[in-house]
Amino acid sequence: MYKTLLTDLADNILTVTINRPDKLNAINKDVMSELGEVVEEIYSNKDIRSAIITGAGQKAFVAGADISEFLGLDQEQGRELSAKGHNIFFRIASSPKPIAAAVNGFALGGGCELAMACHFRLCVKTAKFGQPEVNLGLIPGYGGTQRLVQLVGRGRAIEIMLTGRMVEATEAHTMGLVNYIVEEPDELLTRTRELLSIINEKAPIAIARVIECANIAAGDGIAYGGLNGSSGSSSGSDGMRHGHSTTGGHGRKDAAPKSDAGADAGWEADPFGGDARPGDNSSAQAAHHTHAGAQPGAANGFLREQAAFGECFATLDMQEGANAFLNKRKPHFTGH
Ligand code: COA
Repeated sequence: MYKTLLTDLADNILTVTINRPDKLNAINKDVMSELGEVVEEIYSNKDIRSAIITGAGQKAFVAGADISEFLGLDQEQGRELSAKGHNIFFRIASSPKPIAAAVNGFALGGGCELAMACHFRLCVKTAKFGQPEVNLGLIPGYGGTQRLVQLVGRGRAIEIMLTGRMVEATEAHTMGLVNYIVEEPDELLTRTRELLSIINEKAPIAIARVIECANIAAGDGIAYGGLNGSSGSSSGSDGMRHGHSTTGGHGRKDAAPKSDAGADAGWEADPFGGDARPGDNSSAQAAHHTHAGAQPGAANGFLREQAAFGECFATLDMQEGANAFLNKRKPHFTGH
């Protein structure tokens, strides 16, 4: 059914395995699109009560966005790439059904961002986390500048993002980036399923509301999605009100929970439910995205990240960083 993902549904838990082990499960266009599709499946399939995202093989969860797809992108294409990732990771973070990350190895760049978009994280003791985008003349572009701050605090997050260093599992656990470390790799999925089985016994609507309220508390703008312009107040629906694409296509278009006008206009869905294009960072637009009950600065941070990610694509240093990685040499950055 999927080209780049393996899926397995057992005991109402869908296990999604990103399956590009030869490229350390790097997120290329296909993986991102299929993550969009599978998250819609999680929302819509009544047999699924919770889900796990993991990576194939023992080496990597996901070693980042696929760097080989970066070269040749201009500023606007960079921003669009970021916006697409934001929309899909937003759908993961705002899923009314719990989605856990089972981190079986490297979780770098987009991989760390994917794990952070999930509701909680378990990892093997050899796992390594990081946001090494600065080594490529880039910044995190799939929500990392916002979610890492939320999870570990600003001081730690900024240091990790500025150094691009790897964070070992024990340190990740100490700082709250992961909930549990398992000793043996083959315990990872078992332990994750045990936790989800406990949750699956609870009332689904209560589970959905906890996620929704916790997301509001995190102040990351997630409360904007699917609330038809109101923030925080529940419609009293079954927690699945984001719905599923009636087109049968993948979930990107209907990832705009609110703005039909936006989806029709063909631009990337705006997770904040506003009618401005994501990435438009005029202060007027930023204010437009400011709904009562959420933190305006935080919501704007996601939009600013998309624009800033795009801006990196207009730099020579990003070309240099990606080329150096692909040619297995050290980059030489000049500040241009
Ligand atoms: N994008 C594209 N390809 C990637 C990739 C990525 N993010 N990460 C790894 N790969 C590929 C490598 O190019 C290599 O492909 P090849 O065998 O065709 O040469 C393969 O996956 C194995 O990776 P390799 O670098 O040889 O493994 P390693 O054990 O020496 O190093 C890492 C592992 C994770 C340290 C290293 O792959 C790495 O730094 N990856 C990039 C991490 C990153 O910057 N992510 C953020 C991207 S925005």
